[in-house]
Parts: sequence; C-alpha cells; structure tokens
Amino acid sequence: MIMIKSTKPLVSTQAAVALILLGPPGSGKGTQAKRLAHEYQIPHISSGDLFREHMSKETIIGLKAKEFIQAGKLVPDEFVMDMLFDRLAHPDCARGYLLDGFPRTVAQAEALAGKRDIKIPLIVLYLEVPDAVIVKRAEGRLVCKNCGMVYNLYSSSPRLPGVCDKCGGEIYRRPDDDANIVLKRLEVYHELTSPLIQYYTDQGILLKFDGNQNSDTVYYQLKKSINEKYL
Ligand code: AP5
Ligand code: MG
Repeated sequence: MIMIKSTKPLVSTQAAVALILLGPPGSGKGTQAKRLAHEYQIPHISSGDLFREHMSKETIIGLKAKEFIQAGKLVPDEFVMDMLFDRLAHPDCARGYLLDGFPRTVAQAEALAGKRDIKIPLIVLYLEVPDAVIVKRAEGRLVCKNCGMVYNLYSSSPRLPGVCDKCGGEIYRRPDDDANIVLKRLEVYHELTSPLIQYYTDQGILLKFDGNQNSDTVYYQLKKSINEKYL
C-alpha cells in the first residue's frame, strides 16, 4: 500500500500570539522566525536585523551598535530598549509579534514584561543547539543583503554562488560570523542570555526544542507545539 503524506498545514490561524525565539547565536532563530511569522501572520522583529539596518544607514544607533556587534558583545540597553519598544508600538503588533534576539538578558525580559499587552499570550520557544554545531553553522552562513534570506554552505546553499534564490540580491557573510567573534558571542550567550531559560521556565511559558535537527523538522515541531498549547 502506498502511504501519501499530507502536506496540509496543521492549523492556519489569525489568533493573537506573541512568540519569543530564544537560543544561542546561529541556533536557527532567524530561519524559523521567517516561516513562523508567515504562518501566524505576525511581524518578525529581529533586534539584530534592526541594528544591521541602522548600521547600513550609518545612524547614531548604528555607529554605536557596530562597536559592540563587531566585538561579539551585547549592545547596551540604552540603544536596545527604545528601538525595540518603538517597533512594538507599531499598529501591526496589535495582534501579536515574533521577537528574535530580544530579550537577551533578564533585565530586558523584565522591561518587556512591564510594557507588553498581557492579553496576548506569550510563548517562549527555546532552540537548544550544542556549541560545536554553532561554530560550524556560523562558518557556513550566508545572508542576502536585499531580503535577508539565510543560507548555509553546508546545508542550504544558494543555487547560484553569491546570488539570492528568492530575490536575486547579493549574498554576503556577516562580519560577526568570524570564528573569534562567534566564540565571544557564545560566551556572552552563556553568561547573560541563558539565564532566561530558567526565568521563562519558572513562568511556565517556555517550550524547549532540539534545534540540531533538519530545519523543516524543527519548524514542524515548533508549529505543532504552538498549535497544541495555545490555539
Ligand atoms: P543577532 O543578529 O540576533 O544574532 P544572534 O542571536 O547571534 O543570532 P544569529 O542571527 O547569528 O543566528 P540565528 O539564531 O538567527 O540563526 P540563523 O537562522 O541565521 O544579533 C547580532 C548582534 O546584535 C549581537 O551579537 C549583539 O551584539 C546585537 N544584539 C542583538 N540583539 C540584541 C539585544 N537584544 N541586546 C543587545 N544586543 C543585541 O541560522 C544560522 C545558520 O545556520 C544559517 O546559515 C542557517 O542556514 C543555518 N541553519 C539554521 N537552522 C539550521 C538547521 N536546523 N540545520 C542546519 N543549519 C541550520
Ligand atoms: Mg538571526
């Protein structure tokens, strides 16, 4: 007997939901965020992408952020908080949003708790990936300058070298994916960001996933858990 696997989405919904993707650098937050934001029709807000936009426009925030990002350190809260909360105040966030890269410290999580609309349920999706895998992923990562599409030389390379499959834009390597900077980013993650795992576990809203699996498998596990728990 031939088994036909259904390709129907589990649930397609318009229900309000706020998602946080938590995980080390290179754990797949951006990759998964793009698909989840599309599925749940909520804006994908990446603090790293917002900083990179400021850097390309050479704004005051961008010039300041560059010093820290290129050193693998966190950008100080005075530059992070206003930028993030201004974005969350946009009307497109009224029915939820997906945060990628924020919060990154307990202080940032507390600031978010004080600001956010508590009528929208919050789910924290933690992607667990071993450090050795992270280093390898950073070595192979390529990003489209135009649309932000993320590739990897080892698992998902673009069809034509240097050209984005999706929009034809130029593909580049993030300067902070340099091996030494990645090690610093991992150190910072373990010291300042990983305490958020316990912080959100204590609130009963953290769901943990094995991020060291095929990207599609991770995506379907994320979607299934979100749908089962809250929708
Ligand atoms: P940010 O841009 O947020 O970087 P990050 O958290 O270090 O995470 P990355 O974007 O590197 O990785 P990712 O988890 O999105 O993985 P991706 O999907 O690309 O922040 C950059 C900097 O900005 C920070 O270092 C800090 O300085 C500053 N900053 C940002 N937010 C801040 C804040 N709140 N406070 C203070 N400072 C802040 O995937 C990685 C690679 O792996 C890709 O090549 C991808 O194709 C591949 N991949 C993904 N999933 C899989 C899979 N399942 N299997 C195999 N390969 C995969
Ligand atoms: Mg990212």
